[in-house]
Amino acid sequence: MIDNESVIGRVTRISGPILFAEGLGACGLYDVVDVGDSALIGEIIRLKNGIATIQVYEDVTGMRVGEKVVCHRRPLSVRLGPGLIGTIYDGIQRPLETLFESSGAFLLPGERSAPINAEKKWRFVPDAAALEQVSSGQPFPVSGGTVIGTVQETASVTHRIMVSPDVRGGTLAWLADEGDYTVNEIVAKTELGEEIRLSHWWPVRRARPFREKMTVSEPLITGQRVIDVFFPLSKGGTAAIPGGFGTGKTMTQHAIAKWCDADIIVYIGCGERGNEMTDVLSEFPELIDPRSGRSLMERTILIANTSNMPVSAREVSLYSGITLAEYYRDMGLAVAIMADSTSRWAEALRELSGRMEEMPAEEGFPAYLPTRLAEFYERAGRVTALCGKEGSISVIGAVSPPGGDFSEPVTQHTKRFIRCFWALDRDLANARHYPAIGWIESYSEYADEIRPWWDRLDPQWNTVRVQALELLKREQRLQQIVRLIGPDALPDTERIILVTAEMIKNGFLQQSAFDDIDMFSEPAKQIMILAMIMSFHERASRIIKSGAPLMKVVNLACREEIVRVKTTYKNEDTAGIAAVELRMNQQLDELERMYRKAEVRE
Ligand SMILES: Nc1ncnc2c1ncn2[C@@H]1O[C@H](COP(=O)(O)OP(=O)(O)O)[C@@H](O)[C@H]1O
Ligand SMILES: [Mg+2]
Repeated sequence: MIDNESVIGRVTRISGPILFAEGLGACGLYDVVDVGDSALIGEIIRLKNGIATIQVYEDVTGMRVGEKVVCHRRPLSVRLGPGLIGTIYDGIQRPLETLFESSGAFLLPGERSAPINAEKKWRFVPDAAALEQVSSGQPFPVSGGTVIGTVQETASVTHRIMVSPDVRGGTLAWLADEGDYTVNEIVAKTELGEEIRLSHWWPVRRARPFREKMTVSEPLITGQRVIDVFFPLSKGGTAAIPGGFGTGKTMTQHAIAKWCDADIIVYIGCGERGNEMTDVLSEFPELIDPRSGRSLMERTILIANTSNMPVSAREVSLYSGITLAEYYRDMGLAVAIMADSTSRWAEALRELSGRMEEMPAEEGFPAYLPTRLAEFYERAGRVTALCGKEGSISVIGAVSPPGGDFSEPVTQHTKRFIRCFWALDRDLANARHYPAIGWIESYSEYADEIRPWWDRLDPQWNTVRVQALELLKREQRLQQIVRLIGPDALPDTERIILVTAEMIKNGFLQQSAFDDIDMFSEPAKQIMILAMIMSFHERASRIIKSGAPLMKVVNLACREEIVRVKTTYKNEDTAGIAAVELRMNQQLDELERMYRKAEVRE
C-alpha cells in the first residue's frame, strides 16, 4: 500500500536481517517500512548521513540491492482490543495459530494478517453513566484512558474499552448503544470529531502512560512454596530466574503461568526451542484455573519466537509483549509477564548490533544492553491507571547464562533491575531437587512490603520463613563440618538441625510440577506444612536437650507423614493436614513424658 505520506527508498546493502537504504531521510527513527518486492516488514533503527539502517522481521533470503523500501511514517505498533486473549503471536503480533493449522509452517514472507480478528463481533456494553449523560445532552468528559464501556472478552476477563492515551479528549459527542461491533467499528466520538473504536494501535517501544506509580503491597501467589514463602514476588514486582541448561527455568515459568493469581498472563517464548512452545500450545488449553474453574487460556496470551525464527522479531517480541501487558494493566488488572529467555533476546541484540558494525562492549554485547534491560523491567510496577483503577505488571525473566556462570553480563546487568532473584542450582537439579531454586543464593526484596498481606492471612508466615531460612543456613555450615570430620562429631542437638533441614527440603521445598496434588499449593497449605515442620523442630530439640537420643526422634512415625503431607492432602483438605499435626504432637508428647520422667528419676 503506497499512500501520499509514504516515502520510498532503495536498498543499498544487505547484512543478514539488517539492511541499509537511501532515500529515507524524511522518515523517523523506529518507523515501519515495507522492504522489497515481497514487502517484508522492517523497522528503521538508525538514521545517519542519509542512510537508514533497517531491521527486517522476516527472512531476507533472496533480497537484492536496489529493491524498494516504502516507509509509512508510523512506528511499529500493536493493535489493542478484544480478541488478544487466547491468541498466539509472533514477535510483531502476527497470529500464528491459524497459520500453524493451515500450512503447518511459519508465516510466508510479507504475509499480513490482522492482529486481532476483524470480522468477529463483540457485545459492547456502554458505560451506563456515560450513555445517560450523552443521551440527555450533558457533557461527559473523556481523556486518554477513560473507560467508555466493556466487552466480555472471555468468561474470566471483562475487557474495559478505553479511550487511547493518544486521543486529545474533550467531551463525548456520541456513544454507541449496547450492540455487536467489530474491533474496527466506531463506538464513540468526541466533540472534536475524534473517533473511538473497540481497538487502538500503540507503538511497542513507548511505555503506555499511567497516572501514578505506587509501592507494591500484595504478593503474586504462584503456588510454588519456595517462591511464595521464601522468595516472594509482589504484584508489580520484577524477578529473574537464572540457571544453566536443564535446571528448570522453563518448568518454573510454566508453573507460574499456570497457577499464579494474576488476571492476565503474557508468555513470551523467546529464542528457545520450538517444541517447548508446542508443549505450551497443547498443554495450556487443557488446564483449568483452580480459582475460576475455567480454561487457563481464557486469561493467557502467548508470543512465540522460537530459535528458528528471525532474530529481529525476537528482539522486538519483549516490547510487543510488555505493551500488551500494559494495555490490560490500564484496565485495572493484575498482569504477569514471563520471558523465556532474556538471554536469547540479548543474543539477538548482539547479533543485530554486530551487523550494524557497532562497537561491542562486554562479551560482544552492545554497550546499550543494560539500558535496554532496564527499559524492559522498568515497565513493571503497580500503578494507578489513567482510568483511576489500580493495575499491575509483574515481570519474570529467565536468564540462561552460558555454562550456568552467573558472572556473565546478562545475569549481572539483570540483577541491577530486578528485586527478586531465583537462582537455579545445578547441584540441586542434578539431585532432582525441583524447583532447583537455591536457598542460599536466591533473594527477594519484597518480603517487608507484602508482609501485611500475609499477616492478615496467617501471621506465622514471616516467623516460619525466617526460622526455616536461618535453619538452612546453619545446616549448610554444619554440612561443611560433617564433610570434614563426619556426622558423629556433632552433638545430637546439632544433628537434629540436619534432620529438620532434610524435612524442609523434602517435605516443603521440593515440589513436583508433575504431581496432581502438589503442582499448586495454596498459601494456607504452604504455611501449615512449614509451621508443622518448624514446630516439630522446636519440640524435638527440647526433648533431645532433656536427654532423648536423636534416634528416638528420627524414628517417630510422624516424621515421614509430615514429609508426605504435600502430596497426600489436597489444598482444601486442611482437616487432614491438621490431623497429621495432632498425631505429631501426640507422638512428641509421649516421648516428652518418657524423658521428663527420666529427668525426675535422676
Ligand atoms: N518443578 C519441577 N518438577 C518436576 N520436574 C522438574 C521441575 N522443574 C524442572 N524439572 C525437570 O527438569 C527438566 C528441565 O527443566 P527445564 O525447565 O526445561 O530446564 P531449562 O528451561 O532451565 O533448560 C524438566 O524436563 C523436568 O524433568
Ligand atoms: Mg528452557
